Amino acid sequence: MGSLSNGDVLGQEFTDHVVRAMGPETTPRMRTVMTALIQHVHDFAREVNLTTEEWLAGVAMLNWAGQMSNDKRNEGQLVCDVIGLESLVDDITYREASKADKPPTSSAILGPFWRADAPIRENGTTITFNTPKDAVVAYMHGQVTSAETGKPLANATVDVWQASTNGLYEQQDDDQIDCNLRGKFVTDAEGRYSFYCLRPTPYPIPFDGPAGKLLKLMDRHEYRPAHIHLIVESEGHRSLTTQIFDKDSKYLEDDSVFAVKDGLTVEFKPRKGDTQAEWDLEYNVTLAKKQ
Ligand code: BEZ
Ligand code: FE
Repeated sequence: MGSLSNGDVLGQEFTDHVVRAMGPETTPRMRTVMTALIQHVHDFAREVNLTTEEWLAGVAMLNWAGQMSNDKRNEGQLVCDVIGLESLVDDITYREASKADKPPTSSAILGPFWRADAPIRENGTTITFNTPKDAVVAYMHGQVTSAETGKPLANATVDVWQASTNGLYEQQDDDQIDCNLRGKFVTDAEGRYSFYCLRPTPYPIPFDGPAGKLLKLMDRHEYRPAHIHLIVESEGHRSLTTQIFDKDSKYLEDDSVFAVKDGLTVEFKPRKGDTQAEWDLEYNVTLAKKQ
């Protein structure tokens, strides 16, 4: 490291010195990622003249996120979400697939409330077991096809989850039964799936931790537009993680976690002749072939 002349802020020479401190056993990918990260973090600190007090406030926020996180809450992810990082990374990850001649359904962020152990349910059954008085039931159905061939994909899994009208997912809410508003459906020979769910409503992301504090400091609200989450998987195809958004919902333009994309807004239509549901939603999914 070169010596500093009086009054100078540590410059590029210092940054290069920190980058060069990495040893020969570092993997090439780690070297690429850490070199860029160190460079950008140093440039950021210089650009904003970051003070010790401000840096310590940032460190405290990171520590707070860690302390708040457990198997039901991922605060680190939430902090990334409110600055758009999960959405950006999702877009980078799936950009190649969506450039194909016949692009598959667009992806969107996973979010922190997916559960790996959701039960498999029969097509035509329901995921709403504690239907609140203010909820409206919808029948969601559609077909899963291959983007490459256009043919239906039988035995595909459609894993869905949504929040209740109080804005809570079942793992956040003692008043909902285990795995309420979530389930996995397996497509039939024509690639079709179907189930009853709630017409989704907007909800606030948890804002009692550092993500909420950050939103407040940036003078932003915590709401997400009404949406349903999906993960669709079929053998030989790329797994799709996405969300669909009610086109009539509030907050489509200012989702607190920046997940809304063109092509992911859907229209709920009145459902006739079904005493179990007021609304009908047809949603078809196309999957890209695995490379
Ligand atoms: C969600 O949609 O479940 C979600 C996504 C990002 C942050 C919080 C919640
Ligand atoms: Fe959600």
